[in-house]
Amino acid sequence: MSKLISACMLAGSTALILTAGGALAQAEVKIGYALAPNSHYGAAAEKWDEVVTAETDGAFDFKHFPSSGLGGEREVIEGLQIGTIEATIVSSGTLANFVPETGVFDLPFLFRDLDHARDVLDGPIGDEILARFDDVGLHAMAWGEQGFRHITNNRNPISTPEDVEGLKIRTMENPVHLKAFNTLGAAPTPMAWPEVISSLQQGVIDGQENPLSVIVSAKLDEVQKYLTLSGHVYSPAMLLVSKSFWEGLSDEDKAAFEKGATEAVAAMRGFVDDVETSGVETLKERGMDVGELSTEEKAKFQQAVQGAYESYYQMYDKDLIDRIIATE
Ligand code: PAF
Repeated sequence: MSKLISACMLAGSTALILTAGGALAQAEVKIGYALAPNSHYGAAAEKWDEVVTAETDGAFDFKHFPSSGLGGEREVIEGLQIGTIEATIVSSGTLANFVPETGVFDLPFLFRDLDHARDVLDGPIGDEILARFDDVGLHAMAWGEQGFRHITNNRNPISTPEDVEGLKIRTMENPVHLKAFNTLGAAPTPMAWPEVISSLQQGVIDGQENPLSVIVSAKLDEVQKYLTLSGHVYSPAMLLVSKSFWEGLSDEDKAAFEKGATEAVAAMRGFVDDVETSGVETLKERGMDVGELSTEEKAKFQQAVQGAYESYYQMYDKDLIDRIIATE
């Protein structure tokens, strides 16, 4: 056994750790995420844990910190960079602050539907962007997803761009989203997720925007009256690990984490597919006033954010944007 342990340690595996009594201990994987266990993030984290545990005979002990238990998404990602947190599942909210190219997926009305988004993220463009995280102390395992974002608020129903004028809307800490809502004439405030519910309760902001997966699981109906199915932007997510953690894993353990991440994404997308079907009914039953933009109304919003594209073309390569649009 001691030879096995030495060999594993020489090979750089972090999975085998000796307790004081000489028994093998599990390596801890702290995994933080913003939403409750019964969310698409919870579904993915559980699946990741389950597969790694099965593939490594329990060499890793996942400690889950749901509901922003380790802080906001930016803080958690910084924790991964310095090696105090091993893993996370996050939205694209603050990712562009670490790898700017990530923000290209946040452009409003870029993706036609979920299939289009999944094809781009699972293809060469998605892979190119995942690979860049290794340069910033992180290792990106896979793209997950949240679905298309919709607007909720307490001020008024929304069917035209004029209806969002002056609306105090929380956006993620994301320059692309901020630009879009400024262009629409709203009064956007970037804010970390853990502050959102209390800010809505206190009336500091009128509204926010998130996919049905979040609106349902975070029970935003308790603090928001109107839901407008605007689908104004696709919301990707990402499974990330700390680069120092990743580099300490053996090849077998890396394969287990990769397999787990692939299955976690499937679980997450399955959850999103379900909530896209059932979410509107659930929110109506919980008392929300739900409206959906017609194709013509959506086209007016699309037209109204066109001005923002001039700055997006300065931030992102137009060829990249065209490649995304051209993906079948
Ligand atoms: O709005 C956000 O910040 C994100 O969509 C959330 C809810 C934290 C999930 O990653």
